[in-house]
Amino acid sequence: MSIAILADIHANIEALTRVFEDMDQRGITRIVCLGDVIGYGPDPRECLKMCFASEVAIMGNHEEAVMFYGEDFNPKARASLEWTKDQLNSTDYERTENYDLWNFLGTMQQVVEDDDVMYTHGSPRVPTREYVVPADSRNTEKMAGIFELIKKVCFIGHSHIPHIYTSDMKHASPESLGGAIDLRKLGDRKVLINTGSVGQPRDGDKRSSYVTFDGNIVRFHRIEYDVQTTVDKIYAEERIPNFLADRLLVGR
Ligand SMILES: [Fe+2]
Repeated sequence: MSIAILADIHANIEALTRVFEDMDQRGITRIVCLGDVIGYGPDPRECLKMCFASEVAIMGNHEEAVMFYGEDFNPKARASLEWTKDQLNSTDYERTENYDLWNFLGTMQQVVEDDDVMYTHGSPRVPTREYVVPADSRNTEKMAGIFELIKKVCFIGHSHIPHIYTSDMKHASPESLGGAIDLRKLGDRKVLINTGSVGQPRDGDKRSSYVTFDGNIVRFHRIEYDVQTTVDKIYAEERIPNFLADRLLVGR
């Protein structure tokens, strides 16, 4: 049975709703959530609630920051972080509903391994912090250190750039592979797969990105959503910097 793997939703309910609709059409009900459900976007409560159903919930740096600390957040990320925290504690809602949100955050794990499949937010070395980007394929020491911790396949988010990295130091965009990769064709090679971002893509394509995985084949999906509605909500909330809306329009 296939699973859907979703990362970096970033409180974008318009994007998440469309991704759930796409999953429905594919008959997929199992969800792995790779973290950063919240932060940047205007609907943290609703996005968290939609993710309650995840069978694996990984902690992103934004969840870590609302729960523990966020000293290394830049001013724009910090502004949205403080606003998000206030939303989760809002007295406009039943106290039990707020508890449910915080309890769900508290269940999030840094790394989950299911046989030879690993899930984490950033990288297996520094789960909520380390970025892996295409240029890292030239950094053989970094990539070798990461692959040492992976049994066969590891799914990540964090950079918001959908990409495939293999332990022979090669890398590829999903498009260059026809949008799918068959793990059976990898031989002895291990693979690190960034699913891309549901709610704030940064690869120049503003559509949501997520993957489905049937145990052998990983398929990348790009889903159009009503970007303007999310943008307008961010503009209307003075505590969320407008820059976080503008980037959604261009996927950067
Ligand atoms: Fe993120």
